[in-house]
Amino acid sequence: MVSVYTMNDGLTIPKVGFGTFKAADGEEAYQSTLEAIKAGYRHIDTAAYYRNEESVGRAIKDSGIARDELFVTTKLWNDAHSYEGAKAALAASLERLQLDYVDLYLIHWPNPKAIRDHWQEGNAEAWRYMEEAQKAGLIRSIGVSNFLVHHLEALAKTAKVTPAVNQIRLAPGCYQEEVVDYCRKHDIVIEAWGPLGQGEIFSNADMKALAEKYDKTVAQVALAWSLYEGFLPLPKSVHKDRIKENLDFTDIQLSAEDADAIRHLAGATPAPDPDTKDF
Ligand SMILES: NC(=O)c1ccc[n+]([C@@H]2O[C@H](COP(=O)([O-])OP(=O)(O)OC[C@H]3O[C@@H](n4cnc5c(N)ncnc54)[C@H](OP(=O)(O)O)[C@@H]3O)[C@@H](O)[C@H]2O)c1
Repeated sequence: MVSVYTMNDGLTIPKVGFGTFKAADGEEAYQSTLEAIKAGYRHIDTAAYYRNEESVGRAIKDSGIARDELFVTTKLWNDAHSYEGAKAALAASLERLQLDYVDLYLIHWPNPKAIRDHWQEGNAEAWRYMEEAQKAGLIRSIGVSNFLVHHLEALAKTAKVTPAVNQIRLAPGCYQEEVVDYCRKHDIVIEAWGPLGQGEIFSNADMKALAEKYDKTVAQVALAWSLYEGFLPLPKSVHKDRIKENLDFTDIQLSAEDADAIRHLAGATPAPDPDTKDF
């Protein structure tokens, strides 16, 4: 059983979540989400952008697990950074998921290309709706994703509620120190997307050596490092054996020296720059 973090709003969140990015809508997203819940995941991460909420929602429903035992996250995409946009986007996500509420709703991206000259206002307005939806019970916790320090500081100027979570790219060799430090200081749970380096860590010689040393797999060592740092990893797989493997790592006791080596692993893809990305 995976334990939980307590967020700054007092609610809890399972320390490992199941990622669904690129799990194709239909059988793939449905079966993999169902397998994940069967394997013991109680935290599912999807997004409107992934276009698989309908299949993920069906798997949640068919899993037979009580709704209040599952933690479900979805995200507001880049076409909805306004009060009315966020209202419509959340309603559409809830309908596709067939849920009355989500446990966590995130602003997926801080600086969409279409509103690059007024992203601060876009985030503030979407957030204003999210605070209302939280009060109305449509969302339990509200948070952000891919926010850097200047995005968090801009949001703080108008927000009544501090984000409970910031979901950012964090993987071996990809450690965003400035925003990680800010989130720790403000008691914001740091979720790690791409915790397996989106696949790139599997061919890394240093990661392979560490896997051998701990008698575990590369994926398991990377996930153990994520928890070591106090992050919340969201590994994705559509394969049953890997889905199970990615939950079987909490017995690993990384040494401080090895954790440091993983943090500084060479050759990792850096996190995308949210202020210049082409979407
Ligand atoms: N907020 C954001 O902007 C953002 C961006 C990206 C991702 N995310 C979230 O974070 C989750 C994780 O990120 P990600 O999916 O991009 O990357 P990831 O979890 O780091 O890596 C997934 C890749 O690793 C493979 N894999 C998984 N477990 C494996 C294992 N044990 N052995 C070998 N290969 C394995 C998967 O292949 P198979 O599926 O074929 O097994 C897939 O190709 C996403 O699914 C999504 O929920 C959020």
